[in-house]
Amino acid sequence: MELNWYEDFFQGVALDLWRRAISADQTKAEAAFLAKALKAKRNGKLLDVPCGNGRHSLELAKRGFRMTGLDISEEFIQEAQNLSKAQGVLIEWVLGDMCQIQRISEFDGAFCLGNSFGYFDYQDMLAFLRRLARALKPGARFVFDSHMAAESILPNLREREWFQVDDILLAMENSYRVELGCVETQYTFVKSGKVENRTSLHWVYTLAEIRRMLENAGFSILETHGGIDGRPFAFGSPLLVVTAQKESQ
Ligand SMILES: C[S@@+](CC[C@H](N)C(=O)[O-])C[C@H]1O[C@@H](n2cnc3c(N)ncnc32)[C@H](O)[C@@H]1O
Repeated sequence: MELNWYEDFFQGVALDLWRRAISADQTKAEAAFLAKALKAKRNGKLLDVPCGNGRHSLELAKRGFRMTGLDISEEFIQEAQNLSKAQGVLIEWVLGDMCQIQRISEFDGAFCLGNSFGYFDYQDMLAFLRRLARALKPGARFVFDSHMAAESILPNLREREWFQVDDILLAMENSYRVELGCVETQYTFVKSGKVENRTSLHWVYTLAEIRRMLENAGFSILETHGGIDGRPFAFGSPLLVVTAQKESQ
């Protein structure tokens, strides 16, 4: 299994499923949460990484934030460009790898939503977080969510899962790769009689490891929750939501 699985995964039917699985109401609620949790001033500059089709950036731009969205999927960045043009909002879209962020002290806040934290092994996660910290102004906040923290996924891991979203059927086979510390998932998508297969690796970190990783990269954790409604995070919680802050010096 290739460690850079994410370079080819996010195209075609996988994106169709993502678009259909997330409602406009969920995006609005998450954008409202981000605006509060990031504590950035109204015209502040925010980095959405990875931005997907830009659903959060579009909402936050309409609330007065200056947005930059970065993603590795050409299809999603193209869609984000079309959407922002059609909706008359100015957003900077960047096609690129989130581990290669080149900006310095530019952003008043950043976020990584949609279960996109943990696509890389420890060294690459650290490289991502260090570059992200460098891109933020001192004291700026970073918010992310994850369904894949060890406390969430390991007690609840299901070997086989099925989902039907509109006309897309998805079968998932999950296995925990003990030697790597990650969940390998085999996906079978069926749409209009056509079958597509994909594989992903999602690294599993405990909250304590995430804290160490963030501190190593120059962040400290301000708050952890089990949802954007502020419920506590505990063993077995399906979601982890972290608000961190870049050190002031
Ligand atoms: C599940 S989607 C979430 C997108 C968005 N945050 C949201 O909530 O809608 C994951 C995204 O991560 C992007 N991605 C995966 N690996 C990446 C990488 N190395 N650099 C930049 N983007 C990446 C994919 O292209 C995809 O758009």
